[in-house]
Amino acid sequence: MITSTAIAHPNIALIKYWGKRDISLNLPSVPSLSLTLSQFYTQTTVVWGAKQDQLILNGERIRSLEAQKVFQFLDIIDGSRPPCKVISENNFPTAAGLASSASAFAALALAGTSAADKDYSLQALSVLARQGSGSACRSLWGGWVEWLHGDKENGSDSHGIPLAPPEHWDIRLIVGVVSDQKKPISSRKAMKHTANTSPFFQAWCDTAQEDLDIARLAVLNKDIQTLGEQMEHSTMKMFSTMFSAKPSIHYWKPQTLKILEIVETLRQKNISCWATMDAGPNVKILCSPEHSHMIVEAIKPHCLKTHVLSAGPDAKLI
Ligand code: PMV
Repeated sequence: MITSTAIAHPNIALIKYWGKRDISLNLPSVPSLSLTLSQFYTQTTVVWGAKQDQLILNGERIRSLEAQKVFQFLDIIDGSRPPCKVISENNFPTAAGLASSASAFAALALAGTSAADKDYSLQALSVLARQGSGSACRSLWGGWVEWLHGDKENGSDSHGIPLAPPEHWDIRLIVGVVSDQKKPISSRKAMKHTANTSPFFQAWCDTAQEDLDIARLAVLNKDIQTLGEQMEHSTMKMFSTMFSAKPSIHYWKPQTLKILEIVETLRQKNISCWATMDAGPNVKILCSPEHSHMIVEAIKPHCLKTHVLSAGPDAKLI
């Protein structure tokens, strides 16, 4: 029996991942680029060799589909594994407006392979984490991370690669939580429906690489304006594919639009800030450290909660 514990941080995509070219392997239709976040993390312990498969999430025994996903993931590491115990805790509330699946599967990949006493390169760990949740493949690294589209059918070339470490650029991402409700449709289902029915989906795929190339250069040059504009462009294109799906998919709330309007007004006052959203109504705002306080004050009346986050570190075994 070996026990291993790992920590991984969530990430937010600046150039978005939306759509799968292979559903079972989580191979993306587009490349993406993200920022790993500080402060918030998932800590996961895997006990390789227990009485039975058992998942404890934030102190509670889980027996649902979520648990099945976790143990199927450990089966990828070793098809003839012993029963395992997995204990996972998020130091952030599930209603923090951040997807915890990215940090969860990155931490599970690291702790699981270590407990199984298997030697994985970081790249192989990223390929593994991707199969749990697509965006998890970017959470193995801190700072600025790309997820390669890849060409191979088995997905071995579709993984994260670090673009720049967290200390490359002191930046802030403000999370404005406007709802703590469960999302009406999972991103997995919404991606499939969008790809099948939106007439804009092909255009989304055709233009993603260019968005990524522009954003990559902006990160390397620390050009917040170009990065912010490209992030908003990628975000709005992603949502356009959802709005134009048949029937349409809506994740936003009135407060989402209100905050977008505030961000635009602040920009007119020369405050550099740009917004992005994921499969939900919460808004994430990219800005410089000196503007974060002012932005929080402006959006606060429309939020349940706000968080000011910066670039976070690599996932690690502890
Ligand atoms: O990895 P998933 O299934 O949680 O999908 C994430 C999709 C978005 O958050 C909308 C975009 C992204 O790149 O993270």
